[in-house]
Order: sequence, then C-alpha cells, then structure tokens
Amino acid sequence: MMLRSLPAGFLRIPDPQISQRAKSAHVEALGKRESAAEILSEAKELMKPGSTAVVVGAQWGDEGKGKIVDVLSENFSVVARYAGGHNAGHTVIRDGNKFILQLIPCGILRPGCRAVIGNGVVLDPMALLREIGTLRDAGVPVTGPAAADRSSANLFVSNRAHVILPYHRMIELAAENAPGRVKIGTTSRGIGPAYEDKMGRRGLRVADMLDPALLRKHIANACAEKNMIAHALFNTEPLDQDAMYTEYARAAEQVAPFVCDTALLVNQAIGAGESVLFEGAQGTMLDIDHGTYPFVTSSSATSGGAATGTGVAPTAINSVIGVTKAYCTRVGEGPFPTEIVGPVGDELRKRGNEFGAVTGRPRRCGWLDLPLLRYARMINGISWLVVTKLDVLDEMAEILVCVAYKLDGKKRTEIPAHASGYERVEAIYEKLAGWRKSTSGVTSFGKLPAEARAYLQFVEKESGARIGMVSTGPDREQTIFVDDFTAQLGMEKTVDRVKARA
Ligand code: GDP
Ligand code: IMO
Ligand code: MG
Repeated sequence: MMLRSLPAGFLRIPDPQISQRAKSAHVEALGKRESAAEILSEAKELMKPGSTAVVVGAQWGDEGKGKIVDVLSENFSVVARYAGGHNAGHTVIRDGNKFILQLIPCGILRPGCRAVIGNGVVLDPMALLREIGTLRDAGVPVTGPAAADRSSANLFVSNRAHVILPYHRMIELAAENAPGRVKIGTTSRGIGPAYEDKMGRRGLRVADMLDPALLRKHIANACAEKNMIAHALFNTEPLDQDAMYTEYARAAEQVAPFVCDTALLVNQAIGAGESVLFEGAQGTMLDIDHGTYPFVTSSSATSGGAATGTGVAPTAINSVIGVTKAYCTRVGEGPFPTEIVGPVGDELRKRGNEFGAVTGRPRRCGWLDLPLLRYARMINGISWLVVTKLDVLDEMAEILVCVAYKLDGKKRTEIPAHASGYERVEAIYEKLAGWRKSTSGVTSFGKLPAEARAYLQFVEKESGARIGMVSTGPDREQTIFVDDFTAQLGMEKTVDRVKARA
C-alpha cells in the first residue's frame, strides 16, 4: 500500500513481540561482526554523556533567558544559539555592566566558554560585526578559530547559517505596511524574508558569502528579482546591487575568521564529554509551528529546533529548561488571553521595565497563563522550570493566574490552534494573595514570604514542571537555586559563590 500523507507507522499494530523480534534480528545481524557487548561498549565510547541542556522561552520571548543562560554558562564549555537572528535581545548584567546580546550567545561573557552561532540562525553580517565591536569595546575578548592561537577562540559561526541581505529588510518593511496584509509587528530585521529564502532554496549561506564570485552572482540575481517584486507589489525604490556587493564582500572578509563547521564542533564537544548549553531565542508561542500563528517568528524556537539548528541528534539532549516570567508579556501583534489593559498592566510594565531590549517598544503585560505553560511543557519536554521576575509582583495586593479558558461557553484547558479561536477565548482566573514585601535579591526559598512560596508551589503543581531556579532580580546573584536542579547540572560551585556574594 502506498501512503502519501499518513506516516507508515499508521498501519502498524503495536506488538511488543514484533519489536522484540526486530531487535533480536538487529543484534543477530550485528553479531556476525562482533558480540553485542562489544557493540554496546563501542556505542558508549561514541556517546560520552556530557551534560547537555536547552534553555527555551516558555512564553512569547523576553522571559529572562539571557540572565539564566549567563548564570548557567559557568558550568558549560559550549553555549550555542540555534534559531532566530538579531531579532533577539538577551540582557545580561555582569559586574554592574549591562550587555544586550542579539546574535552572539551569552556564553561569550564567560572566560573559557565557546559561543556558537548554529546553522539554524539567520545572520546579518553587519549586526554581527557591530556586536563583536561592542563586546570588544567593553573589554570582552572575541576571537575566531582562524586566529593564530586557536585555543583562545571563543566565537564560532556556522558555515551553513543563512545570510540576511538588505532586500530582506526592504521586503519585510513594505509587506508589514501594505494594505490588506496581516500586520505581525515584527522587529524589522529581515528575519522572516531570510527564512523564506532559506526554505525556498534560494538563500545565501555563510560559506557562499565567503566566496566573492558566488557572492557577486547571488546578489546580482537575487537583487534583480527582489527589486522587481518589491516594485510591483509595494512600489518600493530599487536597491543598488553594486553597493550591496561591496558592503557584503568587505563584511565577509571580517566574518571569515569566525566561520567553521559548527555541527562538527558541537558534536565533537559532546563526544569528548564536554557540556553544551543550547540557548533558545524568542519563545514557544512565537515558534513557527507551535506558536500563535501567524503572529509568530519564522523559525523553530522550541527545543526541537536545538537539534536541527545546530546539527546534534535529539538523543544527545539531556534536559530542557523552560524559562517563564512570574507573569506574562508579549511584544508585537497577536492574541494574548491574559493581557491586562489599564493601570495594573501599566504598573507591571513600569516595575518590570517591560520595554523591548531590541526595539524599545513597550511590552504588553498580563497574568501568568497556565494552559499556555502546560502546552510549553508538552511541546518542549520541559524537565525544569525557571521562574523569573518574581520581584516584579512584590507590590501586588492580589495576583491572578489563568487556570483554564472559556471558549464558546465551554471550559477547556488546551489552547486553541488558530487565531480565530484566541479571539473568542476568555481567561478563567484563580486569585492568589500577594505578599507585599520585597523579594528582590532573595537567594533561598525559605526566605521568601509565605505567599510568594505558595504562589510558586501553585505554579509548580499546576504546570506539572518542577521549579529548578527562581530569579529575584536581573543580577547573577539575585537567584534561588533548587538543590536537585543544581545537583543534576553539577552546579554546586556556582551556588556556593552566588550565596557567598549575595
Ligand atoms: P530574554 O530575551 O529572554 O533574554 O529577556 P530580555 O533580556 O529581553 O528581558 C528580560 C529583562 O528582565 C531584562 O531587562 C533583564 O535584565 C530583566 N530580568 C531578568 N530576570 C529578572 C528578575 O528576576 N527580576 C527583574 N526585576 N528583572 C529581571
Ligand atoms: P528574545 O530572544 C520577544 C516577536 C516580534 C514579533 C514577532 C515576529 O529576546 O526573547 P520577527 O522580527 O521575529 O519576524 O517578529 O516575534 N519577537 C520577539 N518578541 N522576544 C524576542 O526575542 C522576539 N523575537 C521576535 O516582536 O511580534
Ligand atoms: Mg529579549
């Protein structure tokens, strides 16, 4: 029978005996070469288990991933970005200095840590060079693998990542403002059109950008086509392909020392038993497949994206850490069932300083949404939850938490799959008592006010994910660690240091 859209497994009746027989046949076949024990030990040799974890946003981005990756990165020798581009803005505060990282993983700020920009990222070379310049100006060394002393290299850019070109931004800006188009409220960085070209198999990869002849040919063809499209659809002025080539050829020379096969690098690190952290950008609800489509970004922001976006096997990922705010925010257009419009929302924005790290746009604020958090847990396989910005709720007399939705008069706990469903959704809230005491900088669960502990326990119970860390301020030290979490990640030293400094 020929199956077109159904998976072949659709026809298979689950039969444990069949899978047992298949296993034996497999071992038998392999046994012709060597014994099963030998095969097993060879497999172990190939997959030395270093600790690998994905840090993923459990909401609509800006959950505080930057701070959390920074805290965790002390225990990881590689930190790799796998999706998005310079639409991301990850804030890290180090020794009182604020860094906003857009393309470069936060691991760059840790001496001895290697930062990797994976193949799943879309790269604007000018944005990368600006970011490298800003880091160096702030005294952070940034060196690529082509440096004379390769051992000091700490930034690696995938040769397979796709390149953002000026026509991507041109088309995005025109499309966002065109009559009749659904406005997404993008960051205007050309992210969506760059991924469109990647999927349309007409994109430019970093390796090709480094070849001047290929670069010239690509720009000549693509620019002519994009100019025509933009003029026909949006009456946009054409871009100059010669100026574009000159700018990109110059940038390519400066980017070249950082470029390598990052899939090989990350896999070799894992094989050698090193620990690798995958730094998610955006958040679950902005994921191209699983988010509030079409109000999403154009990449796989969820944990699955870490495998395809860096070239590691899904089986190489040990744990997934989901980051959620103690409340909820969103930038840009799209559904937001727990949004608070009015003075309470304004107060959250003010206390949480909820303005976009990249665009400065005010973030929409709302209450924590548990159906959404449970969904994020399922889609990402979240094993540990990190709750950030607990201190922002300090002044609230009462705190609302959405526990379910009402859709067409019926209570439901799952989130709708399409935009029209969200429009009809009503949040069902449970009210919890506020604590009205400062939690800012608290470093142990026991020192939190009883109501704050109750709030976290409620979130843990209702979301079904264990809380591993709680953030009580933007600084590294303003963090509560849960023992089981730190033991699993081997972070005892970090905890001691944080407690000593706090
Ligand atoms: P990301 O995109 O997920 O890395 O998050 P952003 O950096 O865009 O936004 C998070 C903002 O909250 C940043 O300004 C952080 O410095 C700040 N932040 C992170 N954790 C905390 C916290 O626990 N309390 C407070 N008050 N601010 C925090
Ligand atoms: P970090 O990594 C919050 C949002 C934009 C817009 C939508 C599509 O800092 O959490 P795009 O430019 O990606 O095509 O815009 O996605 N968006 C983010 N919102 N945090 C982000 O990143 C975001 N990256 C994109 O505001 O609604
Ligand atoms: Mg951000």
